[in-house]
Amino acid sequence: MRLTPFDALACPLDALPLRREGRRWCCEAGHSFDVAREGHLHLLPVQHKRSRDPGDSKAMVAARERFLNAGHYQGIADAIAEAVLAGASPERPLACLDAGCGEGYYLRRLAASAGDRNVALSLMGLDISKWAVLRGARQARALHRDAQANATADATAKREGATWVVASNAKLPVQDAALDRVLCLFGFPVYAEFARVLKPGGRLLLAEVGPDHLRELREIIYPSVKEATEREPVRHPALTLEYETSVRATLSLETPEAIADLLTMTPHLYRASAEGRARAEALTSLSVTLDVRLTTLGRR
Ligand SMILES: C[S@@+](CC[C@H](N)C(=O)[O-])C[C@H]1O[C@@H](n2cnc3c(N)ncnc32)[C@H](O)[C@@H]1O
Ligand SMILES: [Zn+2]
Repeated sequence: MRLTPFDALACPLDALPLRREGRRWCCEAGHSFDVAREGHLHLLPVQHKRSRDPGDSKAMVAARERFLNAGHYQGIADAIAEAVLAGASPERPLACLDAGCGEGYYLRRLAASAGDRNVALSLMGLDISKWAVLRGARQARALHRDAQANATADATAKREGATWVVASNAKLPVQDAALDRVLCLFGFPVYAEFARVLKPGGRLLLAEVGPDHLRELREIIYPSVKEATEREPVRHPALTLEYETSVRATLSLETPEAIADLLTMTPHLYRASAEGRARAEALTSLSVTLDVRLTTLGRR
């Protein structure tokens, strides 16, 4: 795995470039931001927060971490990595931002796939949920320790970690035209910001749920399943559609814990009635359709 430092951070207060100085990041105007003990950075000024604890809760993040690390969405992660790495070459590192990264599963899978192709990456995981970023940073540190323990096997590999940041997609603390890839996976796209931070020729990768995603689970928890309405195409003058594909598969969940984690990591937990949730809690196994749409857009 070849990870190089992510050096495109910008000050959230005045957008000047941030430079690392030991355990803090500083801009020329004198603002500075400490790296937390867990290794992440908080770049969400209070005035940009809509609530005291924005984004996914600690319980949602923990459920998603257990579910994704069990490998249930590995096919989706592989398809995402394939789309991100299309056209990448070992000679040129790719600067990638996962905007709304959750606990970092897709960045970890991307780093592993890039390692298989000998492509170097500089990675930033950003989420508005401090719980998600904390877990991303902690898991990355554990991986880093393991890699160092095995360093004799691959002594030449560079092992810089990803940069983990609490911030909002609404105002990315990233310099203009600095990135090769932006990923927005089941998240909250802000196209103007994504276009601003992408280099010309860079790419935005979107993952969205398709009309059949988790249909069987939805049929259990809701009295009737709402059919999906036609999706609005992405409209931004600087972003053009390059490629669209669907990942479809059937997933067999064999334990009540895995079913509970799937429900907890989705918005369905809050949307379903108490009776609907009780029906899901009574299940001991579930066969469920995965239907995910991947869209690649190019930055003009
Ligand atoms: C459905 S989760 C997907 C997480 C991750 N991409 C994954 O697929 O595992 C949506 C994520 O978006 C984050 N989020 C919500 N609003 C956001 C915002 N304005 N900026 C950045 N992240 C946001 C949530 O905290 C949550 O982690
Ligand atoms: Zn500043």
